[in-house]
Amino acid sequence: MKILVTGGAGYIGSHTCIELLASGHEVVIVDNLSNSSEESMSRVEKISGKKMAFIHADIRDEAALDAAFSQHKVDAVIHFAGLKAVGESTEFPLKYYDNNVSGSCVLMQVMDKHNVNTLVFSSSATVYGDPATVPITEDFPLTTTNPYGQSKLVVEQMCRETVIANDNLSVVLLRYFNPVGAHISGTIGEDPKGIPNNLMPFITQVAVGKREFLSVFGDDYDTVDGTGVRDYIHVVDLAKGHVQAIEKLHGQAGCHTFNLGTGQGYSVLEMVAAFSKACNKEVPYKIIERRAGDIGQCYADPAYAKSVLDWQAEKTLDDMVNDSWRWQSNNPDGYSS
Ligand code: NAD
Ligand code: UFG
Repeated sequence: MKILVTGGAGYIGSHTCIELLASGHEVVIVDNLSNSSEESMSRVEKISGKKMAFIHADIRDEAALDAAFSQHKVDAVIHFAGLKAVGESTEFPLKYYDNNVSGSCVLMQVMDKHNVNTLVFSSSATVYGDPATVPITEDFPLTTTNPYGQSKLVVEQMCRETVIANDNLSVVLLRYFNPVGAHISGTIGEDPKGIPNNLMPFITQVAVGKREFLSVFGDDYDTVDGTGVRDYIHVVDLAKGHVQAIEKLHGQAGCHTFNLGTGQGYSVLEMVAAFSKACNKEVPYKIIERRAGDIGQCYADPAYAKSVLDWQAEKTLDDMVNDSWRWQSNNPDGYSS
């Protein structure tokens, strides 16, 4: 298939492009490079030994998207493009609604105009809010506490309604848990701008000496050691989930929703211990107060993805920390190293 990948230069997008190319698909990337660089795409081409088409454009630019779909006869779209910083979204909510919601709306209109009827959308476990129990199944109530999460909920709803109105449309909503890790080559990985918001890039920057210590946000949750528990999933497993989704559900009209997680939760201190082993040094940390909006624990029931997509996460916690460390130690300043 020829697949248009929005946000394909970013963290999850770049790993997914590798898996798409490895499965014999052609890739056309649309990215405005607001949180990425062209370097990730040249590394993907180097790893794959294959070329991709790149269109430097914003998904809100209808004319540019129209031209992209006219130039490339694509069969399906995987839509990663979006802003993802929860804290920033509370400061600039309109920026998030404009980029994530309006952008998705323009994309779906242009897809419709060009009769492209398969869409895979990057949703998030954040749509479950603070779940009453774990593990989380796809039918749990949906709620969220910040504009970023709300932008995901609105796009999910937009997809469900558009599917009802268009009998030919197939939309796959993939709710990611906590993506970590990097390609085994150590040449592509997560490259956050500024101070990382997420746990794993913060730990790797402490280990490489860019930051003094990790602040652990609270040790009084009702969890194994009091620190927050999450379902960390290797980005390569996540990427493979997209290939399965597009191959199994292309042309299958309807709105299909899946958790992409491992089903296993790890605490912050368990992640620190696993990472210390991988980099063979202590990762200094200090326990501080809880972060506003955080929840105690969150992990997936991934059974539905296994039964329908024939997909399950295969990589271990050791793979996640070893691959994150290889990427960070080879590229201490990310793609600008
Ligand atoms: P990322 O920032 O690395 O990648 C997003 C890409 O989209 C970047 O290359 C950016 O330049 C591009 N982009 C952003 N807005 C754009 C626009 N208007 N037009 C064109 N390109 C645009 O982020 P990621 O971690 O790879 O996340 C990909 C998707 O997965 C996002 O939608 C994110 O919300 C979602 N998600 C991520 C996580 C996570 O923890 N990383 C968890 C759940 C869901
Ligand atoms: N944590 C720390 N110190 C840090 C960063 C994080 O102790 O410096 C803790 C958090 O309190 C939490 C755990 O590490 O217990 C994971 O935190 P992250 O920020 O890495 O991830 P979250 O689960 O809070 O949120 C992430 C993304 C969201 C997404 C969600 C579900 O940031 O966008 O996963 O996919 F919605």
